[in-house]
Amino acid sequence: MTFRRNLTRFCRICLAGALGVAAIASIEAAPLTMNTGGAIWNDTEGRQINAHGGCILKVGKTFYWYGENQTRHGKSSGVNCYVSPDLVNWTFKNRVISQGTPGLSESQFERPKILYNSGTRKYVMWAHRENLRDYADAQAVVAQCDTPDGNYALVKMFRPFDKTANTVDHGKPGFMSRDCTLFQDDDGTAWFISSSNENQDLMFYKLSPDYLDTVEHYKVLPRGSREAPALLKCDGKYYLLTSASTGWNANYNTLQEAEKITGPYGPQQGLISRIGDSTFNSQVSFVLPITGRKGTVYLFMSDRWKVWNLPNSRYIWLPLRFEKGTFQPIVWGDCWQLDLESGLATFPVDPTPSPDNLARGRPVHCDKNNERNGKEPDRIVDGDKKTGWAADGGDAPQWIKIDLGQSYALNDSKITWEGDQRAYRYRIDVSVDDVHWSPAVDRTTNEQISETNNDRLNCNARYVRLTITGKGAGMWFWATCEEWELLSGSTNVAFKKSVTASSAQWGRYAAKITDGDFGTYWSTGDDKPGHWAQIDLGRSADLGACRIVWQNPGYFYQYKIEASEDRMSWTPVVDMSTNTKVVRMPVHRFKARGRYLKLTLTGADDGCWPSIAEWEVFSQGKAPAEQQYSGFRGSSQ
Ligand code: DGJ
Repeated sequence: MTFRRNLTRFCRICLAGALGVAAIASIEAAPLTMNTGGAIWNDTEGRQINAHGGCILKVGKTFYWYGENQTRHGKSSGVNCYVSPDLVNWTFKNRVISQGTPGLSESQFERPKILYNSGTRKYVMWAHRENLRDYADAQAVVAQCDTPDGNYALVKMFRPFDKTANTVDHGKPGFMSRDCTLFQDDDGTAWFISSSNENQDLMFYKLSPDYLDTVEHYKVLPRGSREAPALLKCDGKYYLLTSASTGWNANYNTLQEAEKITGPYGPQQGLISRIGDSTFNSQVSFVLPITGRKGTVYLFMSDRWKVWNLPNSRYIWLPLRFEKGTFQPIVWGDCWQLDLESGLATFPVDPTPSPDNLARGRPVHCDKNNERNGKEPDRIVDGDKKTGWAADGGDAPQWIKIDLGQSYALNDSKITWEGDQRAYRYRIDVSVDDVHWSPAVDRTTNEQISETNNDRLNCNARYVRLTITGKGAGMWFWATCEEWELLSGSTNVAFKKSVTASSAQWGRYAAKITDGDFGTYWSTGDDKPGHWAQIDLGRSADLGACRIVWQNPGYFYQYKIEASEDRMSWTPVVDMSTNTKVVRMPVHRFKARGRYLKLTLTGADDGCWPSIAEWEVFSQGKAPAEQQYSGFRGSSQ
């Protein structure tokens, strides 16, 4: 996959498709499409980007991405530097440090980080340095340069505080120093953070004003066994991201909060929105704050290591945010939108099984009547047509608004009014952000008397607002609505239907793919191709679409789907056997009739063991959207 920049109107049109037209107005410049990753990322020369465990530094309007030049034998031979105007298109610039750097012939480099020192006007690099034979040196290497992408000159390689009497770590002077990061505080003070004591203690070192030496040390996470540190600051608080210590293997990375940089740091919270997953099979490397005119978005950068072929390791980049000062676990989306100028992004939303009536039980607000009088607004989403909302007072306009919690593809609106002798005049407007609204239905001149009004919506929206604009025939008092249903039209006909499969891991049985729970999954017995799962819909049906929810995002999957009436003869309906595109929740549309549907896995991405969280089946013309997003927002909004 090549990074791409959408600079044109085309991008706005795509975005409108994904988020609903109302999103356009909220972002003035064209936002960028960020690929989350997992697939191969190429530079502008078409070569796979080799910059692992790294960081990004912004100098002027240019982004510099530094990272390990990984080799097949797992010894990073240097630090590569790529440049980009937009975080999307990256051009290789230089190997800024390597075994060719005087004094570093016997070295490998991990987790390079770079800061600019405005006092010395130098770019200063700190990294973990090892020799080429074993992993026992556990040193920090310090180097500096006049330009961000020039050849960095060695300043020193050492274990912090190796000259201090009685500082001994596993038999050698100074603190061992392995996985590391750099952090520059608001006052320009810089900190080096690294794992010591055979990775058991995480140390914080205050750096000298020239950033070339450690002057104070703090054992911040003693005996925590944490690696891969990254630090960010938001609203005056410090957030420390780390991984557990499991080598190259992914684990459950966490975040801890502190008032002071040296702690104490609070309890570990999971970084991603799903407990038990291995941080989307990756390990944190860095967090880049992106501040624009309207807010800040934090770019979470993580490495998906391919231990058996390290240069082929992949990158996972997702937006990270806080809401009212509270960290929001990171959610997967195959791609997302970033607007550098405003500092806003679209944040992926965890997928949910699609109920038919999306309004049911959602929060409702209205402009008139919020008193406890038995006619409260939420009565229109309680699933009970005997209860309803009545506007307090008779003057139009009166509006009532439902928040669906996230954007959905909406098909229909179904309003049930009180009484069957009145014609209601109304309008329905939709929005993704509660700020910018688009008209969806106009019945402002309605004279048709009816107890129910069904309207086609055909849009993507999170907020849906019904405005009663006036009185039609038979209307002599204020609006009273008993139920308002917003239909996705995507009833999953496979829900709770029986499934058989060629194999399964213990506890991860095939039945999990129709249980309506995206947190459970079917896992094939091994990672070899050929495994299949088959749903019995119970009776023959006209089928129009299906949605697969892969348990592991950021990998490509190859498979085919067949339909059958009798399990004897099978008709091919979907062929993805040559697919190399990463899509977490593919929606396939087709026309078939059958009682049985069978999915056969024919291949998968390097290092991926296929597991399916849900396989939903829909009748013709009724399928949910592939991606789900909240509107554009920054952090702390
Ligand atoms: C532990 C680190 O966390 C990994 O990213 C990797 O650098 C390995 N060490 C190398 O052995």
